[in-house]
Amino acid sequence: MGDVENYMRRAMELALLGQGHVSPNPMVGCVIVKEDRIIGEGWHQKHGDAHAEVNAIHSVADKSQLQGADLYVNLEPCAHHGKTPPCADLIAQYPFSKVYFSNIDPNPLVAGKGAEKIFAAGIKVYQGILEKEGQKLNRRFFSRHEKKRPFIILKWAETADGFIAHSNYDSKWISGELSRKLVHQWRSQEDAVFVGTNTVLFDNPQLNVRDWSGRDPIRMFIDKQLQVPQGAHVFDKSQPTVCFNFIKQKVENQVEYVKLDPHDDLSEVILNNMQERGVMSVLVEGGTQLIQSLIEKGLWDEARVFKSPTAFGEGIRAPQLQHAVLQSQEMIEQDQLNIFTRNE
Ligand SMILES: NC(=O)c1ccc[n+]([C@@H]2O[C@H](COP(=O)([O-])OP(=O)(O)OC[C@H]3O[C@@H](n4cnc5c(N)ncnc54)[C@H](OP(=O)(O)O)[C@@H]3O)[C@@H](O)[C@H]2O)c1
Repeated sequence: MGDVENYMRRAMELALLGQGHVSPNPMVGCVIVKEDRIIGEGWHQKHGDAHAEVNAIHSVADKSQLQGADLYVNLEPCAHHGKTPPCADLIAQYPFSKVYFSNIDPNPLVAGKGAEKIFAAGIKVYQGILEKEGQKLNRRFFSRHEKKRPFIILKWAETADGFIAHSNYDSKWISGELSRKLVHQWRSQEDAVFVGTNTVLFDNPQLNVRDWSGRDPIRMFIDKQLQVPQGAHVFDKSQPTVCFNFIKQKVENQVEYVKLDPHDDLSEVILNNMQERGVMSVLVEGGTQLIQSLIEKGLWDEARVFKSPTAFGEGIRAPQLQHAVLQSQEMIEQDQLNIFTRNE
């Protein structure tokens, strides 16, 4: 099993290269092995482009090498015609000996059918290799299909005594430079960033990727009464922006205003809106009211909390997690980064 797992780990490593470019598709990597040697590799590079299996098969110039080779892929090969033809059909055309994959594709158009097609072509199929790791790798994709909502990552920085801002709403500078840089990397990895009204009003955040390379996420914020001034960074037209409000439904100056009904459960309606537009993951960057409202409803999956050595004595309290399991802890210069998941 050792070698099988190692090849699958390599497939997952390749899959990760698609991070930030393939949503709402899953991240998928593929390795082709013959006589214990990798002869082909590929990954899904960009939404709409070829799937990992196609790229891996095409990377083998001499197709006669595929005779008796094994194929490793972290997600079940697709069985349906999407933007590209079914990968299961392509694999079935070649004389592979075995196909190994980690996770069944939750998409009902695929779920088990990809594996069946390959098996019907006389190729042995093994599923569930590093299943947990595959689930974690594509946690955003599985959330979309299984929970029918984006994967929700909460993020904040708190002082040693548990505040996210001074009483006058000033929150500079709780975390250090490197922590802030890391947040820019995280933004490049998620489809959207989402903040509450006070955060936009008092921090005037840009919510873009400046201190890292990568694409900007969609920025989304709540502003029920449209109080945020037009000169705020969120209106600088530099990236797709959505303002959830009670007043208007229109696109104006490149900002999409989405009108909500005050009687609705706002977090639910907003998450549905994200799901409908294909937002597979959202980084919720505060403040406490927004984050706490999601925690109370169990609407979060991961929390990334920086604890800085600074103390404020008083101020706005940081969110309080519930049903949280600490997954990792590391120092980012002076800040302690704690990563939690929600115990479901
Ligand atoms: N240290 C950090 O990591 C960090 C991060 C972000 C922000 N901050 C600081 O946090 C402070 C703001 O925190 P905050 O808790 O006051 O603000 P917030 O969550 O940004 O904004 C609160 C307002 O947003 C609206 N809102 C939030 N969640 C809602 C929900 N679920 N449903 C409906 N409306 C919702 C409400 O607007 P209405 O009042 O119009 O109903 C609410 O009053 C600022 O000082 C900012 O600098 C710190």
